[in-house]
Amino acid sequence: MSTSPEDRPSVPPTTQPRREFLRMSTRGLVAAWGATAFPGALEAGILRDRPPGAFFLPGWDAGHGLQPVVRHSMHLAPVVDPVRLDLVAAPGEVDIGGGVRAPAWMINGTLPSPVLRLNRGSLFDVTMVNRLPEPLILHWHGLAPPEAMDGHPRLAVGPGEDYHYRFQVDDRAGTYWYHSHAHHRTGYHTHMGIAGFLIVDDPAEASLGLPDGDHDLPIILQDRRLDPRGIPVHQPAGPSMMAGMMGDAPFANGIHRPYREVDAALYRLRLLNGSNARVLNLGRSDGRPLVVAGNDGGLLERPVEVPSVYMGVGERLDLLLDLSDLAVGDRLTLVSLPFTIPGAMGGMGPGGRGGMGGMGGMGGMMAEANRQGEPLELLEFRVTRASSVRRRIPSRFLPLPPPPDRSGVPRRRHFQFDSRMMNHTINGRTFDMDRIDERVPFGETEIWSFENVSGFPHPVHLHATHFEVLTRTGGRNQVFPWERGRKDTVLVWPGETVEVALRFSAHRGLFMLHCHNLEHEDHGMMMNFLVE
Ligand code: C2O
Ligand code: CU
Ligand code: CU
Repeated sequence: MSTSPEDRPSVPPTTQPRREFLRMSTRGLVAAWGATAFPGALEAGILRDRPPGAFFLPGWDAGHGLQPVVRHSMHLAPVVDPVRLDLVAAPGEVDIGGGVRAPAWMINGTLPSPVLRLNRGSLFDVTMVNRLPEPLILHWHGLAPPEAMDGHPRLAVGPGEDYHYRFQVDDRAGTYWYHSHAHHRTGYHTHMGIAGFLIVDDPAEASLGLPDGDHDLPIILQDRRLDPRGIPVHQPAGPSMMAGMMGDAPFANGIHRPYREVDAALYRLRLLNGSNARVLNLGRSDGRPLVVAGNDGGLLERPVEVPSVYMGVGERLDLLLDLSDLAVGDRLTLVSLPFTIPGAMGGMGPGGRGGMGGMGGMGGMMAEANRQGEPLELLEFRVTRASSVRRRIPSRFLPLPPPPDRSGVPRRRHFQFDSRMMNHTINGRTFDMDRIDERVPFGETEIWSFENVSGFPHPVHLHATHFEVLTRTGGRNQVFPWERGRKDTVLVWPGETVEVALRFSAHRGLFMLHCHNLEHEDHGMMMNFLVE
């Protein structure tokens, strides 16, 4: 799997043959990894043969060639208390690493947007000020606020206007986030920077003694497509409107090819897949397992070890990353491991719609869909300090809230997700702001199933409550350990049907169900339900 300088074509990186070369390299890599079940990759030599500082094939990461990879220090967004707070959204410019200045839309002048952090039971009291050139509304993803506070796109306010949010946060301690929910523009706004964390604490969670302070790191993971100047571009059209906007440049907290200096200690990583469309397959570069502590709905009952974790757009994951046996000078990379999606557009598995690669316009579509599953080096940790703090991972966390009561005969609803002919639909329809698609009784347990009949993965999200994932049939055919507890977003691959149990018991009103692939959402894969 090593690539020598002679193997590299002498064409500039932006020309077609170069692109083909990269794609073939990746395919070869994927095949090699597929043959070696992770974490056997280390023994297979794939990790050993890498050039200094590069985890994957040289040349993969948009042209760093055989040079050592230049990485940029990742910062954390400022943490603020969301009480009598103005969040001012305005255009600006930001250093995305190494002095490259990129235009950005920022909240209070930072990228990513500030971390809003408060205690459960506190009042959330925030004024959004829109100084962008187009309508904006913010949505608090994962919280269950009243209808008027939920950031439905019909509530967007124009340039120069404000929106006042005021509600009590009764949600479980955990890692939530916020982003623009403007009609047709969520993908662009989020890409430009209107996204940040919202963290809820409570005394019970604090008593567990998990890493805190500068060992509690909120990190937005994103992929970007760069133009020749190295500036991220968002221009979904044709194939990238179908697959969603993906790129091969990894970003964390707005920094391209990021690294973070750490001490040899236990860390809590609060990760958000804040990409537009990319599914991540998180793993450690040393092949050791990940310790998952929590997900969209806060901490799990107990920590769970897994070799790798699939993470769709909008999903969060609390990982406990133990660096205490590393030495000063050691490095460890959080990576997205290569994978293939059987049955996917562009996929190679059985039943795949991948047989159409040669058919005219389908070629571009296939190449685009093939981006799902590309390997990425997401974030490098550099151990620069020893640590005297020894923390143990508790064997149990906290009890989960009681699951929705299914002792009656819960009503069932079925939602079919499809993407074809430049349309993204739920039950055959695209989003209509003024149409109520479902009327759901307040306080009653229901079972909803999400069926993916398309060739693209769909991270399905709903507002106003969390759900319990009951079953996944077809495709991967299991509910994964990191999907236990409570979720607000669940990844549904081609051919899969996922059943969830839920109950709306916080507020009556109009809320939404949608795919969290931002291009899918913006192009119609969204619907309204009325809790009444
Ligand atoms: Cu993350 Cu409807 O939202
Ligand atoms: Cu949401
Ligand atoms: Cu989708």
